[in-house]
Amino acid sequence: MSFVVGWALLVLAFTAAAEDLLIKGGTVVNADRQFEADVLIRDGLILRVEPDLQAERPGTRQLDARGMLVMPGGIDPHTHLAMPFMGQVACDDFYSGHAAALAGGTTMHIDFVLPVAHDLLAGWAEWQRKAEAAVMDYGFHMAVTSWSKQVAADMQVIASRGVNSFKFFMAYKGALMVTDEQLLAGLRRCRQLGALAQVHAENGDAVAEGQARVFEAGVTGPEGHALSRPAALEGEATGRAIRLAEFAGAPLYVVHVMSRDAMEEVARARQRGVRVIGETVASAVSQEEGRLWDPDWDVAAQYVMSPPIRSREHAAALKAALAGGALQLVGTDHAVFNSTQKQVGRHDFRLIPNGVNGLEERMHVVWQELVNSGQLSPSDFVRVTSTAAAQIFNIYPRKGVIAPGSDADVILFDPLLEHSIAAATHHSAMDTNIYQGYRLKGKVVSTISRGRLVWHNGKLNITRGTGRFIPTPTFGPLFEGLDKRPEHLVDVARYGGVPVQRGSIEGKVD
Ligand code: URP
Ligand code: ZN
Ligand code: ZN
Ligand code: ZN
Repeated sequence: MSFVVGWALLVLAFTAAAEDLLIKGGTVVNADRQFEADVLIRDGLILRVEPDLQAERPGTRQLDARGMLVMPGGIDPHTHLAMPFMGQVACDDFYSGHAAALAGGTTMHIDFVLPVAHDLLAGWAEWQRKAEAAVMDYGFHMAVTSWSKQVAADMQVIASRGVNSFKFFMAYKGALMVTDEQLLAGLRRCRQLGALAQVHAENGDAVAEGQARVFEAGVTGPEGHALSRPAALEGEATGRAIRLAEFAGAPLYVVHVMSRDAMEEVARARQRGVRVIGETVASAVSQEEGRLWDPDWDVAAQYVMSPPIRSREHAAALKAALAGGALQLVGTDHAVFNSTQKQVGRHDFRLIPNGVNGLEERMHVVWQELVNSGQLSPSDFVRVTSTAAAQIFNIYPRKGVIAPGSDADVILFDPLLEHSIAAATHHSAMDTNIYQGYRLKGKVVSTISRGRLVWHNGKLNITRGTGRFIPTPTFGPLFEGLDKRPEHLVDVARYGGVPVQRGSIEGKVD
């Protein structure tokens, strides 16, 4: 970008942000409480949250929020924009993905940087380039797909650039998967760096074996995906990762909990005091595996993601776990491949690029599935869609709350408005939508991103390149007081910590 164009854009952005916004007559909903208040926004920040506010400057834009809930913008902790994966590149990039997110009330997301040929810094450079198109705030997690001294050193460099979470894949054998030995080394490094270790928990060896068996039995279609990687493999890997994290004394974040099996591992670990976070995703709480048996191959293939979408019973267990607190937050794992891209697996389900949409739908789907069903209060909704992510990734209260001084990422939500989801009207670059025809009550009517009204009455008003990287600092709340805990599974101090003096045993058996 030339200096003059860049400068002009800066002036434009500044002019746009200079207009105060006053949200009048709504109910503010935070994770801790809800109350009647107006919200005054200036220069990208929330200035005041009080009853009966008046405009303080000429030209203030007023939004009528009577009958509406005024909530923190959603934070999606799990996305893959423009990700190269299984021979394809995910077709939502930082522009179309952000357009979709904002139209659905999400104002920040955290995307996974993948290393390039296992090189973390090369991956970082790639994602910097992708993010040039950004429209809204974003953060990064970094995936670790191999282990070496170089990787350990690069993790520190990445952390210093504002990344406080590293993901390890226990599946995708031959591609992204790490061994237990590599995972353990990674967990220890994360603890040293004050970074949160994340796992994709499925037993990758067993998945590969299951896939081969299902394919050889003649099942080549999308249903083979569900048949070959059952919930037991997710539960096993979740339990294993948690035990290894306990062994390393590292907090752990389990991404995309899709099954009761995995959820129960998280719940049991939390019950015994382990610092483990369970993230589920919008598709897991709203969809069911029967879709993979759809007679239309293109429809069935849309639902292929890993770990797989499970039965209704699993979805019910995940919702109950969110309501009861065993799971802490909901992301999407938005990783979208259009019909043409999915078609590369038409003769072999193992080649169908894995991933589903959700970035635009998550807020609505969670409201429908959990608030309209009476399982979550509006405050709980804010917690699982926004506040928890801000706290876990150490950017609270800058994000995740409507309070003076916080970033002005705000949504106006009409709880009575009915609508339905369709590929023809969504804002993603996808040609399909796994929520096609899904009916909902409750809709985001306005989205404010850093003080700018970017979504209002069905229209987007966004500018490519205006998004901003939000660094996530290390040593967040999950590390608070951790130094007071022993790495208790290896306790050399047990029985006094001195080697037992014994007489020579040489010669007795040799
Ligand atoms: O199917 C999925 N989940 N695709 C994205 C990559 C991952 O495992 O998160
Ligand atoms: Zn994953
Ligand atoms: Zn993912
Ligand atoms: Zn001997």
